Amino acid sequence: MKTIIITGATDGIGKHLAKKLAAEGHHLIIHGRNPQKLETTVTEIMDVSPNATLSAYLADFSKMADVYAFASSIQQDFDRIDVLINNAGLFAGSERLATAENIEHTFMLSVQVPYILTTELRPLLETAPEGRVINTSSYMHHFASVKDLDFGMEKDYSAKQAYNNAKLYLIWLTCYQAQQFKQEGSNITINAYHPGLIATNLGNTNGKKKETKSLVSRVVKSVYQSLDEGIETGYFLALSNQVAAISGAYFDTKTIKRVSYKGYNDEKAKALLAYCDQKIFDYKESLL
Ligand SMILES: NC(=O)c1ccc[n+]([C@@H]2O[C@H](COP(=O)([O-])OP(=O)(O)OC[C@H]3O[C@@H](n4cnc5c(N)ncnc54)[C@H](OP(=O)(O)O)[C@@H]3O)[C@@H](O)[C@H]2O)c1
Repeated sequence: MKTIIITGATDGIGKHLAKKLAAEGHHLIIHGRNPQKLETTVTEIMDVSPNATLSAYLADFSKMADVYAFASSIQQDFDRIDVLINNAGLFAGSERLATAENIEHTFMLSVQVPYILTTELRPLLETAPEGRVINTSSYMHHFASVKDLDFGMEKDYSAKQAYNNAKLYLIWLTCYQAQQFKQEGSNITINAYHPGLIATNLGNTNGKKKETKSLVSRVVKSVYQSLDEGIETGYFLALSNQVAAISGAYFDTKTIKRVSYKGYNDEKAKALLAYCDQKIFDYKESLL
């Protein structure tokens, strides 16, 4: 049985996947930012699987201090992590919101946090016979526009562009870290994936339900897949032997799919990492 972390496990895809994996006897480490939702998730899992081994952690990933506190709790409480599923994400609102280090929230959730968690938890993943990192990207990365590498979207912000770009940068990060791990002789694999177009709370900002009045949104709603379908690829990447030796790939419907790299090269990946490292430096400086 594996020890599996799922971030953003209090709703949608993360919660549904946590329920399935816990029911199979894996030790689930679930994360959420809302104490009530985290408690409800624990209750729901235990109701279905009374023998589940479950650990639950609170952390608001729009705050660097919470991200580091979460990583440090995991380091203290566990000797080994088999699978890290970086799932927490958001489709932000029309106003650009940023962390204290001026990291735009969508980027923070989809790129900066996966980078920090993968880095901080790497020693625990190395201890596992086949440590796996699964980064939740999206088909929407095909629509990213990243010509000037404005990672903070400080010049020109829109929620849609922030989402599409962050999901592309996460693929860049995945490719770069996969290469790094291989070069350093690590057994850890790291892959990105698209779960499908799934009817969840994603984008329901301020507690409002998705706008369903327009013809376009009604058509989109009609093609949504179920949560059962939405967890298939994540489940496959977490456990299947078929992907044990695959790293640096992008999956959709349990298959390696073409990526729109949008000019990805080593230099651009290094610029992305330099941006993330600078933000980490800024955060650590602020603690002095
Ligand atoms: N649904 C889709 O069609 C689709 C398609 C492609 C990719 N994805 C990706 O799949 C992942 C899961 O999305 P979903 O559709 O399941 O969305 P969801 O239902 O909105 O779940 C998102 C999870 O992330 C958590 N989260 C959001 N902001 C956070 C913060 N500041 N700190 C900590 N946790 C935070 C949420 O916590 P709360 O419960 O407190 O809100 C929730 O647990 C995301 O990365 C998303 O981009 C989804």
